[in-house]
Amino acid sequence: MSSVPSPTVNRCPDLAALSRAAARDLTTDIQETLRTQDRYTLALAGGSTPERLYALLAAEEEGALPWSQIHLFWGDERFVPADHPKSNTRMATDTLLEAVPIPDHQVHPMPTHLASPDAAAAAYTETLQEHFADRSRTFDTVLLGLGSDGHTASLFPETGTAEARRSDDAWVRAVTAPPRHEISPRLTCTIPTLSGARRAVFLVAGEEKRAALTQVLDHADPSLPAAQIRPRDTLLWFVDAAARPSSPE
Ligand code: 6PG
Repeated sequence: MSSVPSPTVNRCPDLAALSRAAARDLTTDIQETLRTQDRYTLALAGGSTPERLYALLAAEEEGALPWSQIHLFWGDERFVPADHPKSNTRMATDTLLEAVPIPDHQVHPMPTHLASPDAAAAAYTETLQEHFADRSRTFDTVLLGLGSDGHTASLFPETGTAEARRSDDAWVRAVTAPPRHEISPRLTCTIPTLSGARRAVFLVAGEEKRAALTQVLDHADPSLPAAQIRPRDTLLWFVDAAARPSSPE
């Protein structure tokens, strides 16, 4: 039974400081990892929290990040065109991809141009399988956010059971987000695919995340998808003071 890394929580004053700390962490891991392997695989998170981090990565001095050796994937996507204002690909393009010299063939967005979410999930499964021989060893780092309901990627508490999520045999699924979410049709890597990452790095900011963050960090509530992410080596949380007012005693 592989050991599960205990979470390391980095508590920062605000989103700006959180983003700087996460950028330092990621840049360091990329530089160190590429001393011993020839490519780095990074899965991006969607939503709004990562935008500053992506902008900081884009602003790194030339050469700090060897983009010719980095492959980018997504942990989830809204099933909308890649140029849609609510697309996770669009957000990463605007904040990062347009500013860095990463070869196009090393950027692997979820194919929302295909005829259906199921077709896109099947196609992305093939993409992941072209890069990872084993679902238990996927990304070097997966970036993740946390919803106020405890969701992460597009894995929602009320969608299926925790056990079904934990033992899902799919690499990527087409799902329907609960009605409170603006974009309903989604694509998401599953818990086992995300947990196949060497490192999982959560970025959480804002008072509205406080209750869910407490449930995950202090109670490891298995009903919350964010609490089910079990990376191979490192589980990091970058949180701001609004989401985590004080370190628990
Ligand atoms: C998405 C994300 C989702 C996000 C959380 C937090 O596609 O929306 O993958 O899991 O990370 O909803 O979103 P914010 O960063 O906007 O709070």
